[in-house]
Amino acid sequence: MLFRPMRPEDVPVAERLSDEAFLDLDRRVFRRDQPDPQPRTDDHRAGWVERTRHFLDTDAAGCWVATDPDGTMVGFATSIRREGTWILATYAVRPGQQGRGIGKQVLDLALTHSRGCLRGMLSASDDPKAVRRYLVAGFTMHPQMYLTGSVDRTAIPAGTGTRVREGSAADTELMDSLDRRARGAAHGPDHPLMQRLFRCLVSDTAAGSGYAYLSRAGSVVLLAASHRRTAQQLLWTAIADGPAEQTVGHVTAANDWAVDVGTAARLDLHTSGYLALRGMRPPTTYLHNGALL
Ligand SMILES: CC(C)(COP(=O)(O)OP(=O)(O)OC[C@H]1O[C@@H](n2cnc3c(N)ncnc32)[C@H](O)[C@@H]1OP(=O)(O)O)[C@@H](O)C(=O)NCCC(=O)NCCS
Repeated sequence: MLFRPMRPEDVPVAERLSDEAFLDLDRRVFRRDQPDPQPRTDDHRAGWVERTRHFLDTDAAGCWVATDPDGTMVGFATSIRREGTWILATYAVRPGQQGRGIGKQVLDLALTHSRGCLRGMLSASDDPKAVRRYLVAGFTMHPQMYLTGSVDRTAIPAGTGTRVREGSAADTELMDSLDRRARGAAHGPDHPLMQRLFRCLVSDTAAGSGYAYLSRAGSVVLLAASHRRTAQQLLWTAIADGPAEQTVGHVTAANDWAVDVGTAARLDLHTSGYLALRGMRPPTTYLHNGALL
């Protein structure tokens, strides 16, 4: 096996490998009462490639691949550093080659990019092999919940959305401040990327500030707020604007405010994966992004 830094031309190959590895995992662990796992849509693939090219631009030293001697990619890990926090964006080994030590070596290389970082974050899958790697690397696992189902529109509070507006690049400084307060590090260069990929909502009043990014399908993919009430207003606005069937993901026990909103909207509560942290406690009034954390 050979190990080397990831190059821009590797990104589409890594995307295919990642889809294959996560689909294989999802088929092994998915809940029977949930829809069968599907390969990524073209839209999802394009977003994955754009995001990973961005990681290579900002953090080439955090992105590594493992190849066969003939050059075929068998695994990779992408990671970034933001203001003293190391973030593992994604990590996969080709199905059929897992459990043989390739993942350990590729993760160890990505972890060299964490030198000097006091904090670390990643969103872990339910794969016991991944969880073992993160525990050995000194991470603490905090179970993630998600709320899913058919929204009860009669539960949406009157006045939802009145203190929330569309966000723009002009709000980036506010967003960075909220990130520092919630997770100790701004998203910095990731905000322009997210502003290209996602819809952005902002609430900035005397009572509190916050922002949320929403996927094209209308789900919250990141939310940060100074106060519970603002976080709840942003989540209710996303739910009110979203489709009939919704999922609110990446909720830890530190974010009971989100469980309260989801329960009031009559969504069902489940668990999936872990927020893995090193050198920090689970952020509150914060729903992390799965890759940009
Ligand atoms: C997670 C992943 C990247 C790890 O790569 P890998 O090459 O399989 O990892 P390694 O073989 O180096 O390490 C796996 C560890 O789990 C252990 N292991 C193997 N099979 C296991 C099983 N069924 N249950 C529990 N542990 C297992 C191995 O012994 C090893 O631990 P050790 O080195 O202390 O002995 C890979 O398994 C994968 O792609 N999984 C699917 C996608 C995924 O979950 N990615 C992580 C996203 S957060």
